[in-house]
Amino acid sequence: MTRTVLVTGGAGFIGSNLARFLRRERPEWKVVNLDKLTYAGNAESVADLRQDPGHVFVRGDIANAELVEHLIRHHAVDAILNLAAESHVDRSILGPGIFVQTNVSGTQVLLEAARTARVKRFLQISTDEVYGSLGASGKFTEASTLRPSSPYSASKAAADLLVLAYGHTFGLDVVVTRCSNNYGPYQFPEKLIPLMIANALEGRRLPVYGDGMQVRDWIHVEDHCRALLAALEMGRGGEIYNIGSDNEWPNIQIVGRLLEILQKPRELIEHVKDRPGHDRRYAIDAAKARAELGWSPHIAFPDGLKGTVEWYLQNRGWWERVRTGDYRTYYDRNYGAR
Ligand code: NAD
Ligand code: TYD
Repeated sequence: MTRTVLVTGGAGFIGSNLARFLRRERPEWKVVNLDKLTYAGNAESVADLRQDPGHVFVRGDIANAELVEHLIRHHAVDAILNLAAESHVDRSILGPGIFVQTNVSGTQVLLEAARTARVKRFLQISTDEVYGSLGASGKFTEASTLRPSSPYSASKAAADLLVLAYGHTFGLDVVVTRCSNNYGPYQFPEKLIPLMIANALEGRRLPVYGDGMQVRDWIHVEDHCRALLAALEMGRGGEIYNIGSDNEWPNIQIVGRLLEILQKPRELIEHVKDRPGHDRRYAIDAAKARAELGWSPHIAFPDGLKGTVEWYLQNRGWWERVRTGDYRTYYDRNYGAR
C-alpha cells in the first residue's frame, strides 16, 4: 500500500535515521518530515534526501495546529510517527518548561489534528525512561508502573498517557513504542556516546557522572528504526511495545571501550558531580515486540559501537559544526557549575 507518513523530529538523531530508513525500505511511500530545527535539529543530517522527491522537509513546530492541519490535508497523510521532542535529561533539569510545551502540548496538537483528519495510525515514539529506575535485577515490561524521575521522562510519560487516552476516548488508532538508549550516526554530541567520542578526539576530558556505574540498555538506531516500521505496520491499535536489545552496560565500561577503540588514554576520564535524581539502571524486556511484531535486533554491540566510532571519525565536520553556538553555551551552563 502506498502511504504518506508524517515523521516529526526528522532532523534529529533517530528521526533522520528513520527518514532515510523509510525511503530505503518503503521507496513507494512519501515521507513528510516536520522539524522545528531546535539546537538538536540539523538539516544537514538529511542533506542526502534533499533531491529525493519522496521526501519533503518542512521547518515548523508540532505545536502549530494550523501548520500541522495543513500538512496532513495537503499531503493526504495517513500515518504520523511522532519523534519531535526535547530529548536531553540534563537540559530538562536546567529548564523544564520547553519539555512540557513540545513533548506534551505539541503531542496533543498532533493528536487533535490526527483525530480531525481521521489519520489511520498514530505512532508515539517513547522511551523506557517513563518507567523510572530499576534495582540490580529485573526488566521493564509494558505493565511496569510509570515512575518517571526527570522532567524529560515525566513529559514523555504525560504524552504517552494522552496518546492512549485519544485511542480510548476518540477511537484514534494509536500505538506507543518505548525504546531503550539508542546509539549510532547523527546523534547530537551532548549524549553519552557521541560526547565521549568527540571529547576524546579533541583531547578533552570525558565527564563521567558520579561513579559511572549507572546502567543503560543500548540499541543501535537502525534496529530501533526497524522496530518502528514493524510497529507501524503490524502493531495492534491501543498497544504499547517495549523495544530493546538485551544489552546492558555500566557507563564507565562504555567510556573505557570507546577509549580503547580510539586508542586514547584512560586518564582522559574525569568523574564529575552526579546528575540530580540520576536513574541507576534501565533494562527492557522486549518479548512482546519480538513475539507480535516479528522483530529482533540485528546489530551486535561490538560491531555497532565500532561502526559508530568510525562514523564520527569520518564525519568530523558534522559534529564540529554542531559543537558551536548554542551547544557551547549549554555546555558551559551544564558543566561549568560542577
Ligand atoms: P533529538 O533531540 O536528536 O531530535 C529531536 C528532534 O525534534 C530535533 O530535530 C528537533 O529539532 C525536533 N524538535 C524539537 N522540538 C520540536 C517541535 N516543537 N516541533 C518540531 N520539531 C521539534 O532526539 P532523538 O534522540 O532523535 O529522539 C527522538 C525521539 O525518540 C524523542 O521523542 C525521544 O523521546 C525518543 N527516544 C529517544 C531515545 C534515545 O536514546 N535517543 C530512546 C527512546 C526514545
Ligand atoms: P544520556 O546519553 O544523557 O542518556 P539518558 O540520560 O537519557 O540515559 O546519558 C546516558 C548515561 O550516561 C546516563 O547514565 C548519564 C551518563 N552521562 C555521563 O556520565 N556523562 C555525561 O556527560 C552524559 C551526557 C551522560
